[in-house]
Amino acid sequence: MRVLGLESSCDETAAAVVVDGTTILSDIVSSQVALHARYGGVVPELAARAHIVQVVPVVEEALARAGVTLDEIDAIAVTRGPGLVGALLVGVQLAKALAWARGLPLVGVNHLEGHLTAVFLRDPDEEITPPPFPHLALLVSGGHTQLIVCEAHGRFRVLGSTRDDAAGEAFDKVAKMLGLGYPGGAIVNQIANRGNPRAVKMPRMMFGRGLDFSFSGLKTAVALHLKEHGVPTGDALADLCASFQRSACEQLVRKTLAALDETRLRHLQVAGGVAANSSLRALLGEALAARGVTLHVPALRRCTDNAAMIAAAGYHHLVAGERADVRLNATATLPL
Ligand code: KG4
Ligand code: ZN
Repeated sequence: MRVLGLESSCDETAAAVVVDGTTILSDIVSSQVALHARYGGVVPELAARAHIVQVVPVVEEALARAGVTLDEIDAIAVTRGPGLVGALLVGVQLAKALAWARGLPLVGVNHLEGHLTAVFLRDPDEEITPPPFPHLALLVSGGHTQLIVCEAHGRFRVLGSTRDDAAGEAFDKVAKMLGLGYPGGAIVNQIANRGNPRAVKMPRMMFGRGLDFSFSGLKTAVALHLKEHGVPTGDALADLCASFQRSACEQLVRKTLAALDETRLRHLQVAGGVAANSSLRALLGEALAARGVTLHVPALRRCTDNAAMIAAAGYHHLVAGERADVRLNATATLPL
């Protein structure tokens, strides 16, 4: 089954064609990063307007790269939430229009479920070993930080969530305080790699309090450090980034290990933009090897927002017989 996926929940306009929920024929992402950078964060109104301009060319490019026309598409999957409602509506409305005009099956997809399905995707000539079910997932993005038991495609049990900021949001806010631009997670990561993670004392957040996370205290610790010492440069900047990053990643790793102990699961997938973080990967890699747990991380370009993951997640709902109709709507807060 060839599914056309559409994603417009935040600041990427994306379309992809995926076969049977795994094989990517095309995966087009048009980023609005440059548009929002001067404001230091995503401006919802501007995001929605940029999606309006980009969405049709992005779909056309996805079809062209896949070497197919709409006649050869079997179904359409679109992100219906969570996200910025004005942004989501652009994708939802185009998906409904295409499905209606072509008489194609349509399904609405939860963006978080999309992230959790990215690990099952591959290019036509790529070999992958996806995690078996059930497995544990650490979902760490700009908007979400959760530990989830993935029981089957479309069947999830949330074990813990952040009580305040998401992990990626904390990286972005710290980057903003340090004047490093937006989105700053990858920049903080890059600078941190040159620093000493023990140089600046950071609070040990949320240790021993169930499987929930908290990052706001860590962000405050960085703000207080800046108030006292000013914004550092050179080695001092690298040390501060490394210390913040180590503390954030230690919390993620500790909670993940606690969840693995509790569930006795032997496979872990890490999904979402923060899965790109090199310190998180290294710390998890070490800790999991010692326990004989297998780590699965999607290819870097599939960790961040894309439509291939939406097409893949949608495929499993379509196969199960699920169909949306013209009443499909966007939902800003949509739990897994
Ligand atoms: O999954 P994603 O593309 O979008 C959401 O659905 O939120 O994740 C984007 C987030 C941003 O907060 C970005 O700063 C963060 O992922 N991120 C990173 C790294 N690369 C991206 N955070 C830490 N280290 C990185 N290398
Ligand atoms: Zn996302």
